[in-house]
Amino acid sequence: MDDLREKWLKAVADAGDAAALEAVRVAALGKKGEISAQMRELGRMTPEERKEAGPRLNALKDEINSAIAAKRAALADAALEERLRTEWLDVTLPARPQRMGTVHPISQVTEEVTAIFADMGFSVAEGPQVESDWHNFDALNIPGHHPARAEMDTFYMARAEGDNRPPHVLRTHTSPVQIRAMEMAGAPLRVICPGRVYRADYDQTHTPMFHQVEGLAIDKDISMANLKWVLEEFVKAFFEVDEVELRFRASHFPFTEPSAEVDIRCSWEGGTLKVGEGDDWLEILGSGMVHPKVLMAGNIDPAAWQGFAFGMGIDRIAMLKYGIPDLRAFFDSDLRWLRHYGFAALDVPTLHRGLSR
Ligand code: PHE
Repeated sequence: MDDLREKWLKAVADAGDAAALEAVRVAALGKKGEISAQMRELGRMTPEERKEAGPRLNALKDEINSAIAAKRAALADAALEERLRTEWLDVTLPARPQRMGTVHPISQVTEEVTAIFADMGFSVAEGPQVESDWHNFDALNIPGHHPARAEMDTFYMARAEGDNRPPHVLRTHTSPVQIRAMEMAGAPLRVICPGRVYRADYDQTHTPMFHQVEGLAIDKDISMANLKWVLEEFVKAFFEVDEVELRFRASHFPFTEPSAEVDIRCSWEGGTLKVGEGDDWLEILGSGMVHPKVLMAGNIDPAAWQGFAFGMGIDRIAMLKYGIPDLRAFFDSDLRWLRHYGFAALDVPTLHRGLSR
């Protein structure tokens, strides 16, 4: 009996997995098992022998049974431990972006520009793309006979028969949004106005629809010095460089006085643009102090308030920053181009995380 006990308890202890344990159970306690065979032997014993052996055999059977149950539980625990150890998932890891489409460089650059100016206290204003002649021209000090009207290659909307008012236009620049922002919010004011604009022109650097961003700041005692600082901060942040040098070139726009076109120092070594160094200058925007007539058109008293304004092409600065050679490709919807120049959707540009990483 002691030999039996030792043999089967050892077999139970040695079983390495659930299947081996079940095999031990069948060999010991199954119908043809060794312990079951011993139980049948009891029938052939004398009553005295049976009285002695019966309880001992029953106790042994119980002991093996509970050893098997304990072992089964231990094996299940170990299996669970093993799964917990191997099948884990770190939910604090950052998401792995799946490229289901990309963010278009124009959207990306618009977000970058917005993030930079938002940091300087500018909010975003919008206006209609089909604009009144008055907002697009007259209010900006471009009266009917002004040559700037012809220069802009304007698309005019059709008029109803017998309607002799000036036709609406597809806005030729974002400057009409200056007027709308002044009408709506008054002074003081600090807005940028990104959006689509239209001119009848088409070559490697011109498309009939393109994008501008306008900036307007109106307050008491605003000067060209404020304009210069804001633009310097912008160019440094946008091109992600520590130092830039700007050159203000006297220019003319009907809606600003004085007016300046702004160039940045750069080099084109090896065909790639480097901002902030070199002997070349790159024109990036038009700017100036808001003309008193424009303030008046926006219902703001030019005796009490001054402002600066600037405007630049979003497509153009996107081409410069990301080395995109042909403007027309922006609007071809070529998937290979979009995958190459597009941005991951989860990389929203912010100043603290970096604009274009
Ligand atoms: N509206 C001008 C353009 O389209 C740009 C500009 C905006 C210049 C604001 C000066 C001030 O060319």
